[in-house]
Amino acid sequence: MKQNIVHNILLGQQHVPKHHTAHAFAPSNIALCKYWGKRNESLRLPMNNSLSISLGEYGTHTSITVIDDKRDKIFFNRKEIGHHTAFSKRLINFLDLFRVEKNKPYFLIETAANLPVCAGFASSASGFAALTLALQKLFDWHLTKEKLSILARLGSGSAARSLWHGFVKWHAGHLNNGMDSYAEKIPLTWNQLCIGLLVIAAKKKKISSSHAMAHTILQSKRYTTWPQTAHQHCLVIEKAIKEKNMILLGQTAQQNSIDMHAVMHASDPPINYNTPQTNAAIHQILGLQKKKHAIYFTQDAGSNLILLFTQQDMPIVLHYFPQVKVILPFANKDASHVSGYFS
Ligand code: PMV
Repeated sequence: MKQNIVHNILLGQQHVPKHHTAHAFAPSNIALCKYWGKRNESLRLPMNNSLSISLGEYGTHTSITVIDDKRDKIFFNRKEIGHHTAFSKRLINFLDLFRVEKNKPYFLIETAANLPVCAGFASSASGFAALTLALQKLFDWHLTKEKLSILARLGSGSAARSLWHGFVKWHAGHLNNGMDSYAEKIPLTWNQLCIGLLVIAAKKKKISSSHAMAHTILQSKRYTTWPQTAHQHCLVIEKAIKEKNMILLGQTAQQNSIDMHAVMHASDPPINYNTPQTNAAIHQILGLQKKKHAIYFTQDAGSNLILLFTQQDMPIVLHYFPQVKVILPFANKDASHVSGYFS
């Protein structure tokens, strides 16, 4: 099925690399309305619509070079990664989708992320999006971003949203082949909007999001209401973005995240990504909201938190969370001087 979809998308496009090497960057993205649960595992088709904000210059840089060899060579953050690892296997499986010629090309992949990997900051999203963009350049395809979004999705679900900067929405779609399940840019900006990355543990998470999703669909009593809830949240968040309404955006994104984790907590056995430090930080943020500060959080499948606020609340955020990494997604440069986490 996967191969057929790739075949259809690449009809009329180059099947052999046109260039020797190509490079691309894709930003990480944080879902304000989360994708949680697949209607098709292999095609990574989501149960619900989702909506994200991209993290500007934080993401993945990937170079792909054709090599005269019978296997791929993979480097991550300058370190060679063995073929037996889950990381390499996933990447090679993805590359295999595009090796259709008899004389299959093999590649040197050099990929580097400037965010903690597998800690709930969507590094696989930027990784597969950057690789897809690099493949487009290497083969000289002329595919639309929507088509590339479908291809990137085959590597990692949320990669479908990492091909653009700014706000992006991913349509869950209805078709079995997923040709209507792609992301698109929401052409709105919000200069005052800030995203704060609060690293609680920069370690690899214990349970992958794919595993946790599959488990909660089967084992959570609360899953049945999730797709409809998320659908509503997406609509409200889009309205909040249009109105630049921080309270509406923050409250809805935060509720969406709380609901997603509640679905996981209600599964048997429960899945809980929170550490005591996560809970303490959540407690502190809720306390700031009680004092009428429009500072909110969202949390992916990991123990870290992402703060949502506008520039006027930056001094408060920095006072309570001096270690936070602040990103201004629409300012073209971040506020990295406030902390040195990823420098
Ligand atoms: O694309 P995956 O398999 O890494 O799953 C992403 C899941 C969440 O980050 C929790 C939500 C989302 O929409 O990004």
